[in-house]
Amino acid sequence: MAREFSTVGVVGLGTMGAGIVEVFARNGVDVVAVEISEPALERGRATLTSSTDRAVAKGKLAVADRDALHERVHFEVGLDALRSVDLVIEAVPEHLDLKQRIFAELDRVCRPDAILATNTSSLSVTEISVATSRPNQVIGIHFFNPAPVMKLVEVVRTVVTAPEVVADVEALCARLGKVDVTINDRAGFIANALLFGYLNHAVGMFESHYATREDIDAAMKLGCGLPMGPLALMDLIGLDTAYEILDTMYRRGGRDRRHAPVPLLKQMVTAGLLGRKSGRGFYTYERPGSPKVVPDETTPRTTDAALADGARAITKVGVVGSGTMATGIIEVFAKAGYEVVSVTRGAEKSASVCEAVKTSLNKGVVRGKLAEVDRDAALGRITWTATLDHLADVDLVIEAVVEELSVKKALFASLDEICKPGVVLATTTSSLPVVDVAMATQRPADVVGLHFFNPAPVMPLVEVVRTIRTSPEATATARAVCAALGKTAVVCGDRSGFIVNALLFPYLNDAVKMLEASYSTADDIDHAMKLGCGYPMGPFELLDVVGLDVSLAIQRELYLELREPGFAPAPLLEHLVTAGYLGRKARRGFRDHSHR
Ligand SMILES: NC(=O)c1ccc[n+]([C@@H]2O[C@H](COP(=O)([O-])OP(=O)(O)OC[C@H]3O[C@@H](n4cnc5c(N)ncnc54)[C@H](O)[C@@H]3O)[C@@H](O)[C@H]2O)c1
Repeated sequence: MAREFSTVGVVGLGTMGAGIVEVFARNGVDVVAVEISEPALERGRATLTSSTDRAVAKGKLAVADRDALHERVHFEVGLDALRSVDLVIEAVPEHLDLKQRIFAELDRVCRPDAILATNTSSLSVTEISVATSRPNQVIGIHFFNPAPVMKLVEVVRTVVTAPEVVADVEALCARLGKVDVTINDRAGFIANALLFGYLNHAVGMFESHYATREDIDAAMKLGCGLPMGPLALMDLIGLDTAYEILDTMYRRGGRDRRHAPVPLLKQMVTAGLLGRKSGRGFYTYERPGSPKVVPDETTPRTTDAALADGARAITKVGVVGSGTMATGIIEVFAKAGYEVVSVTRGAEKSASVCEAVKTSLNKGVVRGKLAEVDRDAALGRITWTATLDHLADVDLVIEAVVEELSVKKALFASLDEICKPGVVLATTTSSLPVVDVAMATQRPADVVGLHFFNPAPVMPLVEVVRTIRTSPEATATARAVCAALGKTAVVCGDRSGFIVNALLFPYLNDAVKMLEASYSTADDIDHAMKLGCGYPMGPFELLDVVGLDVSLAIQRELYLELREPGFAPAPLLEHLVTAGYLGRKARRGFRDHSHR
């Protein structure tokens, strides 16, 4: 029989604590909510009130239930109020000495049979537990932000946590409607160990002016389907908390430089820019605690302004290539009203690309998304040829041929001979340096990367890559064209992986390393990222879809360019590729897909 928890205590009512109070009170558990001072207590109460009011306004909570919820919560200053609770969850700032002091005090105050839990994200639960005389009753219960919304709880057992305490806490999580994964005490547990290297890397990109905050966030939302971009997520987590988590993970997790907090973070924390809770972090918010972003001095101007930056008029576009990307790109431009010249290596290839474009447009008609006349008009705008010379009068060329530098360089040298002056020359490469291609021409200022995602007609994102030689006009033109296509363009520097792959693949690689170290299972890791962070797929699901060979190749590129030891491909990934377990396409990757 699992133990009954009728009253729990929550210590610290900040970003996490106030949400944790709500989770318990919503599920019929009485809560003693404790803070360090009256003003802090008031802030905690206000957070709870506004959260439950929002739930009522959204129709997710009845008024009577809200009132009952509030009646279950008793607010008090000081730990003495926790004398008779069955379990305490501590959610004070991420400092080991503070947490140890609080646990020593809780040990003195609380009933001998009470369970003492910490919501720490990165500190050692074991080290916290030894500050008490009952380390076997100390456990980690790691909620995710916002606690009332996110389904996941990581239950962290130390080497001394009693098995019945683990079982009781697991049963409690189920009662709260949460999904738990139970794991050992390691820095960052599952989710944060995979998340924070990525978040810190994104901050580094922002700090080095590699891309703007809006572009970094849009790239990860639109390119990977994440619920929030990394910088908006840092603001939600709180920059002070994020700093402490990174710092601890760096020290506890083998001094992986990717966890060494980017210097900008410390500066922002010192300057009081803590994220949403202080009203300003990477973004500016309506007021402290508000989720609403308001424009500030770095909010970008609109596309009209981009036109003023010297974007050139584009009416006719050349697309070179006959693969999946070229086919999708031809369709996208023709549908958006551009005249398109498709260049392939022969009439047969042109015929098959033409067929593929027709099939795709017809699908749109069948689904009611495209009128027949618009389909016919789009097809009528495309000219099919095998002769590069037909690109003499286009305004923009998009190259989507095989991913080989020598082939692309030769093509760009030819384009340089053929195309009129002022044309923007774009490559869709996903892994080669754009500047190498640019330097094959006499006009590197007009060369950009236009990295479309597959399938191009569906994916809303395009990465516009500017090299150190690209002119502002060429970048502005690329941006304006993407906007005219109904896509979101993000502009970034010419580095391996651009934004999306550079941030995504090291995270996937880290997940493989975690599996390899037997810290957790593929199922639990996938669960943790989906239910704790709102990712549409877990890392192993995604790796199987993308292909393990493709993932390994990208990870190798990143490692070779940056020489970052943490980016070294996981040996398990290499072995699976060698064994031919490439993912869904091979019917076996991290999982067996043969029955599907
Ligand atoms: N922010 C997140 O996204 C997130 C997610 C999961 C876990 N966590 C973890 O939760 C814990 C709390 O983080 P947070 O982001 O909520 O921090 P926070 O700074 O928002 O809130 C901490 C609260 O603790 C209170 N406090 C400080 N000293 C206290 C004391 N002696 N007694 C009682 N209350 C005290 C503060 O007044 C403040 O309200 C940390 O361990 C953090 O790692 C945070």
